Amino acid sequence: MTNKTFTLTNNTTGASVELPVKTGTLGPDVVDIGALYKQHNVFTFDPGFVSTGSCESDITFIDGEKGVLLYRGYPIEQLAGRSNFIEVAYLLLYGELPSADELASFSSSITHHTMINEGFLRFFNGFHYNAHPMAMVSGVIGSMSAFYHDSMNINDPVHREIFAHRVIAKIPTVAAAAFKHSMGQPFIYPRNDLDYCSNVLNMFFSVPCEPYKISPLAAEALDLLFILHADHEQNCSTSTVRLAGSSGANPYAAIAAGVSALWGPAHGGANEAVLKMLNAIGSVENIPKFVARAKDKDDPFRLMGFGHRVYKNFDPRATLIREMCHKVLKEMGDSNAPLFELALALEEVALQDDYFIEKNLYPNVDFYSGIIYRALGIPESMFTVMFAIARTVGWVAHWLEMIADPAGRIGRPRQLYTGAPLRDYVSVDDRK
Ligand code: ACO
Repeated sequence: MTNKTFTLTNNTTGASVELPVKTGTLGPDVVDIGALYKQHNVFTFDPGFVSTGSCESDITFIDGEKGVLLYRGYPIEQLAGRSNFIEVAYLLLYGELPSADELASFSSSITHHTMINEGFLRFFNGFHYNAHPMAMVSGVIGSMSAFYHDSMNINDPVHREIFAHRVIAKIPTVAAAAFKHSMGQPFIYPRNDLDYCSNVLNMFFSVPCEPYKISPLAAEALDLLFILHADHEQNCSTSTVRLAGSSGANPYAAIAAGVSALWGPAHGGANEAVLKMLNAIGSVENIPKFVARAKDKDDPFRLMGFGHRVYKNFDPRATLIREMCHKVLKEMGDSNAPLFELALALEEVALQDDYFIEKNLYPNVDFYSGIIYRALGIPESMFTVMFAIARTVGWVAHWLEMIADPAGRIGRPRQLYTGAPLRDYVSVDDRK
């Protein structure tokens, strides 16, 4: 807390309230309104939490105006260029880059937790063959709480760490099982001789009847996407994990809530929506028609993969993914090249259009991620699941931070009530 204050004046009564101001390491100050209701009988109103900080956090920093994204202080560009997903996961969970020994031990722990109880496989048999993979993943992650009673004491730091390693290790196995179920193919067990991303590819694409060659570029692309998607401070799904977890609910339930929140097209579902949109546009000649629709206030259509609540200049993750997109398409066949050409043409038109310029609508990370996933052979319905694999690390880091915070309280927003005033119950016979 600093000595800074922020003064609010009530125009009706003329009374002034001085509110304390908190300063972080980076970013704007925050006005602490915690005592406003108790002392002054008034709530603040901020639908969508556009100006509201919900917690203190030292995990991730975003400067949306400058297009800056830092994990634990390290720029995303440096991590994307020099680190790997498992090291980034360690950084997000523990706060510092690991020593060589710490990294080896963490990596081994994750590898040795990748198998899932055989009971989970029977869950998949209960899902319809065309169930959306996100529905299966959220259900199965939530049900993990039914398997680990012995290590779910949220007040025990050792139990919390076991949960963290377990869920990060197992989510790719669960995701792969959902994929294999939707393909009607046999489940493939994890392999401990493979790194995290190669193991994901092997569980997704190998079949028992022939050898599968893991493409190093595919593993590299996946690793980059996972790094870029690993955390994004208090986004919708992370806030959902925190809110669900703030009640003391078990952490698997909280992560399942995060998976569900991620599924929406305004959040993690956008990468799937981008591909659907590009398919609907079909060819470059149709771009102006779709751009006109996106600008039409009476048309609910939006350009998927454009705009971001926080980035109002450019999304640094989109820049990194765009480069990888070129690399993957060049090396892994060009069957998706027309789609990428269409995406580039759409990007060019939108970036020169006054509507998009004035509203600061730039391509976000998901504009390109779907094209890479498609080139790797991952179907559209699995895109958000891939995002969930990566974001599990961020969800877990935030859940751990929240649980360990001694000032933590149950999350409970207030409201502006606009319903009927007090009235008496009327018996059904007397109603008009
Ligand atoms: N296409 C057309 N117009 C848009 C778009 C878009 N993609 N995005 C925003 N706008 C317009 C809005 O209509 C609004 O116009 P107005 O001021 O005239 O009413 C203005 O730009 C501001 O948009 P809001 O929806 O108010 O901005 P908000 O911060 O609430 O929403 C969001 C951000 C949800 C990402 C939005 O830009 C969107 O729907 N984009 C498409 C979906 C998408 O790509 N989501 C992925 C986000 S990234 C992620 O989750 C990993």
